[in-house]
Amino acid sequence: MPETDLFEIMYSAGSIRRLRSDPVPDEIITKILDAAIRAPSGSNAQSWVFIVVKDPQTRKQLGAVYRKASDILMKLYAGAARPSHIDENKYQRFMGAVTHLFEHMGDAPVLLVPCLRASMWTGASNLPPEVKTRIAGAARLAGSSIYPAVQNIILACRAFGLGTVLTTIHAFFEEEVREILKLPADLQTFALMPIGYPQGHHYPVKRKPVNQVACLDHYGNQWPHNM
Ligand SMILES: Cc1cc2nc3c(=O)[nH]c(=O)nc-3n(C[C@H](O)[C@H](O)[C@H](O)COP(=O)(O)O)c2cc1C
Repeated sequence: MPETDLFEIMYSAGSIRRLRSDPVPDEIITKILDAAIRAPSGSNAQSWVFIVVKDPQTRKQLGAVYRKASDILMKLYAGAARPSHIDENKYQRFMGAVTHLFEHMGDAPVLLVPCLRASMWTGASNLPPEVKTRIAGAARLAGSSIYPAVQNIILACRAFGLGTVLTTIHAFFEEEVREILKLPADLQTFALMPIGYPQGHHYPVKRKPVNQVACLDHYGNQWPHNM
């Protein structure tokens, strides 16, 4: 039986990048997917497809794409300063885990790839011009109909004692991923999530406090409370 206290789960569902190779029963994966599809989606379209990759050869291919994408990520990191809210020790631990996953993505017993079909409005030619302009501006919202499901996956994994992490850099080589997974033209990937039992333990999620990131009524007016 999974642990069920929602807040305990949320507060301890930090990214896990070091995973054991022990198999994850299909029954548990099915329950995780069933939690995923409880998420909301725009117009309740549920235009998602979740590819569960267990085949070792396919995992290896996806792992190789992730490894290649990591070279690009490291170039991005090289030009970026360490975020000020993370101390040097924590940052080194974080980078250690991140680089471990670069080499081991394909070793996770399950790789889950949440995908989404293009919005029902994409390519619609019979829309009035003012509507077309408005929805073009909303293109940045593309992932909003899949990431709630991704978060449910993260929480459900935690509830079953499994580790996972939301990763996205495979998208630097989306075309290769599409070919590996035989995706049809209208389906896009939004994450690559390794799933497995953790090598270590789940740990408390640390974040900037609420009053540093929330405002009352308008920007700049700090929310006055903290936990
Ligand atoms: C949009 C998005 C993309 C991410 N991409 C990656 C990634 O490509 N590789 C990775 O190791 N972690 C990735 N992460 C995980 C973040 O690094 C992680 O959520 C963050 O450092 C907080 O860590 P914690 O959950 O352990 O507290 C991503 C997270 C998000 C939300």
